[in-house]
Amino acid sequence: MSTVGIHDLELATTHHVLDMADLAEARGVDPNKYVVGIGQSRMSVPAPDEDVVTMAATAAAGIVERHGTDGLRALLVATESGVDQSKSVAAFVHGMLGLPTTVRSVELKQACYGGTAALQMALGIVAREPGAKVLVISTDVARYALETPGEPTQGAAAVALLVTADPAMLAIEPIAGVATIDVDDFWRPNDSSTAVVDGALSMGAYLSSLTAAWDDFAARGGVPIEQIDRFLHHQPFTKMARKAHMSLARHVGVKLPAEAMESGLVYNRELGNSYTASLYVALASMLDAEDDLAGKRLGLFSYGSGSVGEFFTGIVQDGYRSVRRPEADRAAIENREPVTVAQYVDLHRTVLTSGEDVDTPRVTRAPFRFAGIRGRARRYERTG
Ligand code: CAA
Repeated sequence: MSTVGIHDLELATTHHVLDMADLAEARGVDPNKYVVGIGQSRMSVPAPDEDVVTMAATAAAGIVERHGTDGLRALLVATESGVDQSKSVAAFVHGMLGLPTTVRSVELKQACYGGTAALQMALGIVAREPGAKVLVISTDVARYALETPGEPTQGAAAVALLVTADPAMLAIEPIAGVATIDVDDFWRPNDSSTAVVDGALSMGAYLSSLTAAWDDFAARGGVPIEQIDRFLHHQPFTKMARKAHMSLARHVGVKLPAEAMESGLVYNRELGNSYTASLYVALASMLDAEDDLAGKRLGLFSYGSGSVGEFFTGIVQDGYRSVRRPEADRAAIENREPVTVAQYVDLHRTVLTSGEDVDTPRVTRAPFRFAGIRGRARRYERTG
């Protein structure tokens, strides 16, 4: 059988950015706690006319432009910042991109793990139906209450992946290790716009999930750890990936150099947590930051609170540079407009309810915007 995996990847983020040193000053905290202790330099902040739908459509539009829609059979959108309890983000995006009716569209949820669940489903569809392609989008806005320990670990981004046979970027290997463990470490109740978290418990649950997923991976005949060249771990904040790397090394009883994961931290340090997208932002970061990864095996750990973890591997393909677009990723990060802490607080406090008709101000430069609410329905439009 031919290989299956990620053929192309596109990253999108928000219009605004907040500097962590500014947030630290406003909160009376040593900036090094955020920049060094947590490992975050900046975080993306959505404009009033941006949300998970506009970021998802923006990321996917690039992929559709480059590869067309021939053979596209499914649009799977993972998010834990859904905008409706019934209509999927995928259905909105399907309409905004004008995709064929023959593309099945659905939203998946299991905290930050949802993107990996979508990727695994996509691999199954592609393996079963020759010539099929699947668009997988992970899109999230990480939101905690103001002035809580989680506040400096907010952020936002979307990553669109095109999943195909004989992929140009990353061939995913068939063996995966999984751990589902029911735990209340982090969640967002239906009546809350911000997450509830037990910080210490969540870090412990993440690390327990990693070792359990690794053990399942090893028991199923996954490659020995020495044959994995680079590691990408879910990054709620970049320090967590360092903790994961050290914890895995201790668990397996080997020494793993820090250089085997450093290049995957560059973009997340700038964007902040993007929940489902975070692991795939890390993948983009690593592929963009290193000179030549062709033939290297990557080990990826996906964690979603609640909790599900999965460890899997992929081989970077010879032609991956032909589909990477590091300048576009860097432009998305560098072109964000800075906000002051006061502006960020205003944006954070503005939570719309469906009962009130509203038109949002025009701010975003992205190709799609959230125009507002009419008759309890969300309205989106193309900007150009
Ligand atoms: N200079 C340098 N470092 C400093 C410092 C200073 N002045 N002050 C503190 N630090 C270091 C601390 O030593 C600590 O580092 P270590 O963990 O390596 O010891 C680090 O900064 C953080 O300090 P605290 O532990 O005191 O921070 P905190 O308790 O205020 O908050 C947190 C940390 C609990 C992670 C909090 O940010 C939080 O609740 N975040 C949200 C939850 C989260 O992200 N959990 C991760 C696992 S769950 C998951 O992964 C799913 C998901 O996406 C949410």
